[in-house]
Amino acid sequence: MKQIVVAESLTKHYGDFPALKGVSFNISEGECFGLLGHNGAGKSTTLKMLYGLARVESGQLRLFDHPISLTPPAIKQILGVVPQEDNLDPDLPVLENLITYARLFGIGRAQAREKSLAMLRFMGLDAKEESLIDALSGGQKRRLVIARALLNSPRLLILDEPTTGLDPQGRHLVWQKLRGLKSEGVTMVLTTHYMEEAAQLCDRLVIMHEGLVLTEGTPSELVASHVLPFVIEIRLPLDAIPDDIGDRVNAFGGEALPVMEGLFLYTREGNRLWQQIGDWGLPQHSCFLRPASLEDVFLRLTGRGTEP
Ligand SMILES: Nc1ncnc2c1ncn2[C@@H]1O[C@H](COP(=O)(O)OP(=O)(O)O)[C@@H](O)[C@H]1O
Ligand SMILES: [Mg+2]
Repeated sequence: MKQIVVAESLTKHYGDFPALKGVSFNISEGECFGLLGHNGAGKSTTLKMLYGLARVESGQLRLFDHPISLTPPAIKQILGVVPQEDNLDPDLPVLENLITYARLFGIGRAQAREKSLAMLRFMGLDAKEESLIDALSGGQKRRLVIARALLNSPRLLILDEPTTGLDPQGRHLVWQKLRGLKSEGVTMVLTTHYMEEAAQLCDRLVIMHEGLVLTEGTPSELVASHVLPFVIEIRLPLDAIPDDIGDRVNAFGGEALPVMEGLFLYTREGNRLWQQIGDWGLPQHSCFLRPASLEDVFLRLTGRGTEP
């Protein structure tokens, strides 16, 4: 499989602060690759290195088989970039924003207009072509930045939190469009702190924390290798839970993990433990049995979940 991105031991300091402490990953052609992590993990810095906004301090970064410092202009032409901050031009209406951007890629005026209209339709913004940027909702701006990133028909799409600020409907629309692009062979790298987004879209991902990659794999590999397959969430104050519950769950072959609002019990035998906690005097209406997810992997590796 052709490697589109090869990153080895990337480091970066802002002043004395180490934002990246040796980050490595590869992205294969056609893959959707995710970077997950809390704020400050180093996701945006990593992506900025890919699109040329942050300099690689040490380590190796290759893009389409070229060292990043020598990326030929022809390769910059096939990148699509959605930065974390919406950097739209507030002085231009929606359609003009896109046309102006397309012209930067050397696309002729007539074709730029045609392509811009097509991308507005693609992202469900065709009714907004004359609107001013300030009149758009946060979600519409986000969709517009995605539309803009597609004007040059990129082969590698770099998306920094593409759906932050979108309502659930907008998020599903973006997911659907990104899946469509993936089926056309577009390679993608995205950051997110929505675990469901990562599970839905990413073929493979890394979990980053404080400038390091903690783990890498497919969503199901990560769940299988870091946590037991079922979780019982006990939503009760800790003083309402028997003191020795950890030992009881251990004796059961499972594991108890304290979380902010209670305790999570991990087990291979969800139904059997569910019966058991009833016998232990825990009210089942304050408990919840579910399959383990990426959120649990995150909680285990970083010490907290992704919910605010
Ligand atoms: N331009 C900058 N100047 C100083 N510190 C920065 C700058 N950009 C990022 N940082 C710091 O580097 C760390 C990583 O930031 P970033 O890559 O934006 O993380 P993420 O995108 O995962 O939230 C954070 O602690 C952030 O405060
Ligand atoms: Mg960021």
